[in-house]
Amino acid sequence: MGNWDIAISDKYWHDTYLESTEMITRSGVGVEGAPDDPPRFRGYPGIRLCPLPQRIPDAIGSLADAFLDRPPRITDPGVIEGHTLGTLLYYGYGLARVDMGPVSGWPYHRTVPSARCFYPTELYLWLPDGPDFAAGVYHYDQLHHALVPLRDGDHRELIGDAVDADLAGASAVLILTSHLWKTAFRYRDYAFRLCTQEAGMVAGNLLMVASALGLTGAVHFRFLDEVLDRLVCLTEGEEQPLAVLPLHAAKEKAEPASLLAGLAERRARLRTVPADLGLAGATYEMAVNSRIGDLGELQPIAAAPGPDLARALRERNSGGTFFKPTNEPVDAEVLHRLADAMLPYRSDTGSAPMCRLYVIVQHVTGVEPGVYRLPDMDRVTDLQPDRLGLGLGPPVMDMRSVNVLCYPVSDRREMTTRFGNRGFGVANADAGVVTQRLCVLAGAAGLAARPVNGYHVPAVQNLLGITDPALLPMFQVGIGHRNITAQYEMPIIF
Ligand SMILES: Cc1cc2nc3c(=O)[nH]c(=O)nc-3n(C[C@H](O)[C@H](O)[C@H](O)COP(=O)(O)O)c2cc1C
Repeated sequence: MGNWDIAISDKYWHDTYLESTEMITRSGVGVEGAPDDPPRFRGYPGIRLCPLPQRIPDAIGSLADAFLDRPPRITDPGVIEGHTLGTLLYYGYGLARVDMGPVSGWPYHRTVPSARCFYPTELYLWLPDGPDFAAGVYHYDQLHHALVPLRDGDHRELIGDAVDADLAGASAVLILTSHLWKTAFRYRDYAFRLCTQEAGMVAGNLLMVASALGLTGAVHFRFLDEVLDRLVCLTEGEEQPLAVLPLHAAKEKAEPASLLAGLAERRARLRTVPADLGLAGATYEMAVNSRIGDLGELQPIAAAPGPDLARALRERNSGGTFFKPTNEPVDAEVLHRLADAMLPYRSDTGSAPMCRLYVIVQHVTGVEPGVYRLPDMDRVTDLQPDRLGLGLGPPVMDMRSVNVLCYPVSDRREMTTRFGNRGFGVANADAGVVTQRLCVLAGAAGLAARPVNGYHVPAVQNLLGITDPALLPMFQVGIGHRNITAQYEMPIIF
């Protein structure tokens, strides 16, 4: 058995996407609160925590910056200072909200969604020597917003060998694992699908936050598992590395020197005008004292910076236990913004995202209901509203009142051919990156976005006009205006 014994993933693709109800019935479900229900937060008793700066900024940069593709600086690595690191980890995968009230399902919420708030993804990081932290490997402890030191020393070359990349210029390396039992205690055989989807969402979110903070990140799916197991001290068989994200300082923006070069000479060639125009009093005083001789006196006004990523992440919400949007239409502009979910991200798989993005438009002002493909808004087919009630399991979302339904769609055949069994996790994580972007872009527009797995795949393929059975809808994301609920939602701000 091994990665190229693809009968294993062929069966798993089939069971988790086409026969999920049967699979879950067969393997049974665990009970939340039972003795085998693991804790929601990882603790390392006996290890002294290294606190991260306990003040998180409430603005971190425009959402547009979260999608910038800045070239990385591959020599002269910058050290990420403690304040930026704390901001990156908190907004990237921190504890952001506690929900309470008669209808609240699960109390602890992070900046990234998680099926039933189990949060199987664990975040480790390698840091070089810096003023705030010594070189070594750490675990991010969300509950205390602190780092847990696991192993000291500079392991840059070892990690580089494990991911087959030169990390000489890396300022940090993030390692995402999945502690499978945190989800498997409940979902048993089905859990690997959820774990890989969530790891991708966390990766996608970390990329966005890193980019807003001026860092460049890439997702590596090709790595030597065992090396990483040992490096981050995993118990074999319990936890699995799923993605590695080296972070580099981005190349500085080009200085405006090209504009200034030759300015003095051009100015000298200009015809001079008499200095004293005879103006007097306040007018003269205002005119003279509004002049600038150095452009640095005034900072350029950024063109339409748009909403801040921090605000979008705080607004991100899955819509409560039962998501029943208000049915109020949204503006067509929202669809154009959602298209950003398909902007490229850096990955060792080559061009990414690898999935396609289908949307069902229901209540969008100025856009005819129907099925479209983003980012170009190509119309695929008409909407068949009578076929929308396609949920599996108990209802969790009012399908008819969501404004838009989004479906990242992956080519199962292509993923297996390229990556073997690993292709299952890669496809789920890739769709996860896109899904998290959708959730955050919806948050920025003041909308909730509910990722849901409980849908009947062949029926959704049919609804989307997909005829190739290898093209699988990996997620269903309903987007709409939230209704008032009897739920108290308190932000956690460090
Ligand atoms: C991979 C994944 C699968 C999910 N599947 C479902 C689902 O099938 N049904 C559902 O009601 N919610 C589903 N959710 C949504 C979570 O239950 C929801 O995100 C969680 O309650 C956290 O709420 P928050 O996103 O508002 O913080 C899923 C979330 C993820 C990440």
